[in-house]
Amino acid sequence: MGWNLKKGKTAIIVGAQWGDEGKGKIVDVLSENFSIVARYAGGHNAGHTVIINNKKFILQLVPCGVLRSGCRSVIGNGVVLDPMAFLKEVAALRDAGVKVDGTISVSNRAHVILPYHRMIELAAENAPGRVKIGTTSRGIGPAYEDKMGRRGLRVADLLDLKLLKTHIENACREKNMIAHALFNSEPLDADKMYHEYADAAEKISPFVCDTAVLLNQALVNGESIVFEGAQGTMLDIDHGTYPFVTSSSATSGGAVTGTGVAPTAIDLVIGVTKAYCTRVGGGPFPSEVEGPNGDLLRARGNEYGAVTGRPRRCGWLDLPLLRYAGMINGISWLVVTKLDVLDELPEIPVCVGYKIDGKRMGTIPAQDSGYRKIECIYKNWPGWRTSTLGITSMDKLPKPAREYLAFVERESGARIGMVSTGPGREQTIFVDEFLIWLNGAAGKGRQAKARVQ
Ligand code: GDP
Ligand code: IMO
Ligand code: MG
Repeated sequence: MGWNLKKGKTAIIVGAQWGDEGKGKIVDVLSENFSIVARYAGGHNAGHTVIINNKKFILQLVPCGVLRSGCRSVIGNGVVLDPMAFLKEVAALRDAGVKVDGTISVSNRAHVILPYHRMIELAAENAPGRVKIGTTSRGIGPAYEDKMGRRGLRVADLLDLKLLKTHIENACREKNMIAHALFNSEPLDADKMYHEYADAAEKISPFVCDTAVLLNQALVNGESIVFEGAQGTMLDIDHGTYPFVTSSSATSGGAVTGTGVAPTAIDLVIGVTKAYCTRVGGGPFPSEVEGPNGDLLRARGNEYGAVTGRPRRCGWLDLPLLRYAGMINGISWLVVTKLDVLDELPEIPVCVGYKIDGKRMGTIPAQDSGYRKIECIYKNWPGWRTSTLGITSMDKLPKPAREYLAFVERESGARIGMVSTGPGREQTIFVDEFLIWLNGAAGKGRQAKARVQ
């Protein structure tokens, strides 16, 4: 017997770079074949863009499955939830005619972001002598600090108004003292905060349940689950470019701890990578390109943060990082997005290896100082200089584009299962073997289209 009773299929979608790989679009496309989409980490620092019939949705906390009728959405215990941001997002979805009631569930064990988390983050980011991470200023880091420090407020506690009042009074006293002493910040009003959060609690209450039970029961009933990663491997608190990372487990392991679904219940991990690379915020980025080529990628890829509007730093595909992401996450299928962004380039450099102090490196450095010494070894790949926008089958891609993808596949050590050729749902190529697995996921049919080569 034991607990490995699940019958439904499961897949984790994970960002293989520094976030913004196009996870939102891919989860939306895949949600056709799954019963539930579950978020497992991060908070409203994420910005997942989905374009359906030319209508744009940017989802921050609510899983992308909400946009697919018949698909349910779960916000797992590993997420940090800003109740105001959640309610605002839900209201906007409702206004857009999206069904939210009865389809979104929020974990009673998720931790709550409170105004003092944002206050402390903003003050600390700008304090002299601190390493400036370039965060999204949403209070994510301080909320996870309180979680790990065992002094956080969970969604279940938010709904318990007596406990909420005591928690806010005590926390405000402590946070106001710290923020005043360290950063000379103005104090926050605990009473006002309590009333705002008590009001939010009432509105959130219908969404709240034990999502670990919900997910495990769904699996036993034969339903399928896709786990929607936020951020990316290189922003993971343990495996990323520390300290220039986010404060959660963005890698596939986070899907297990962040939802309460056991590792034995996970079928496979799908890594999403752009055909090039971007990062937003501070920190090392070995294959970054500044100047006209970087500007071209930014303009063609519309590389501006979905949440903060900040211009994203752009660079070439980094294969050592992709291999590292493959290893850390256990990626078996790779999805390559934004191939169309490379359409005009006469040649496409790809980072195939690293050198530090003139010596070839086989591993990824642990320290920021190590990353900054990296010299990328590039291979120049011939461009195709013709439009791939909206192409839906591999055999319609220009030969150099197919060869570029085959090279990425060989070097990354993972099979390419899908290629994205535009932001829209339909602008997607599926590879046969991946489709075979996918069609089994929920028994719904898509037509097989082509192989990668
Ligand atoms: P996420 O955070 O990983 O979900 O990615 P974001 O939504 O933050 O950023 C990806 C951006 O690229 C969004 O604006 C998408 O609409 C867009 N996008 C996704 N796939 C493609 C593609 O294949 N081609 C183009 N041109 N844009 C894409
Ligand atoms: P999605 O899910 C890209 C970056 C921030 C900053 C660092 C820490 O859309 O891919 P935080 O506010 O999390 O403490 O900021 O992490 N960051 C992201 N970059 N995509 C994201 O999410 C990100 N979420 C956080 O820019 O460098
Ligand atoms: Mg994003």
